[in-house]
Amino acid sequence: MNVIAPPVVTAESIFRDAHTAYRFTPEAVTDEQLAAIYDLARFTPTALNSQPLRVTFVRTPAAKSRLLPLLSATNRDKSASAPVVAILAADTDFHENLPRVAPQTQGAKERFAANEAGRTVMAVNNAWLQAGGFILAVRAIGLDAGPMGGIDAAAIDAEFFPNSSLRTFLVVNIGRAADDGQFPRNPRLGFDEAITLV
Ligand SMILES: Cc1cc2nc3c(=O)[nH]c(=O)nc-3n(C[C@H](O)[C@H](O)[C@H](O)COP(=O)(O)O)c2cc1C
Repeated sequence: MNVIAPPVVTAESIFRDAHTAYRFTPEAVTDEQLAAIYDLARFTPTALNSQPLRVTFVRTPAAKSRLLPLLSATNRDKSASAPVVAILAADTDFHENLPRVAPQTQGAKERFAANEAGRTVMAVNNAWLQAGGFILAVRAIGLDAGPMGGIDAAAIDAEFFPNSSLRTFLVVNIGRAADDGQFPRNPRLGFDEAITLV
């Protein structure tokens, strides 16, 4: 897959100016853009470099018709208008890759293999962290993202990932926001409310 060079972005463009998108133009998102998103998102740091995030890009009408009924009713039109909907899942079998991605940590694969509960927490926490990087990567290549937690995650797993180690936790609509596709900014907490200096 060719990876296009991302446009020049600034902190303003991916944090202060970017908005969550709820309605999209029909402009297609290309395979190269999807590759560019992952090429940036994969550098999000994770514990033990474990990288548990797995992404399924849903873009054909057939695949979308399988996904849309599994979203909460208020979210269906939003995803229907998006050229691509990414299903973000945590791979609870991420430990299989540890000898390759974290070769300095001896025995990590075996320790996680023996601890399913700890492995699942690690997978979900770190996949969520990667989801933040994924949203910023969408913005960094000049597109808009609409993350949505209003989903039937178990039903998505049954439909798309039966009998697998993947656990869906979020979908992200991807495309270009329509003119009326974003809401006004709600207040963000100030430094004094969210930060403690000790
Ligand atoms: C994890 C997560 C789950 C969300 N779930 C939904 C959702 O189910 N439906 C929806 O319309 N918006 C959803 N949103 C969008 C948020 O409401 C939105 O990102 C937030 O209000 C900030 O909006 P802004 O980027 O325009 O400032 C979700 C966002 C995140 C990050």
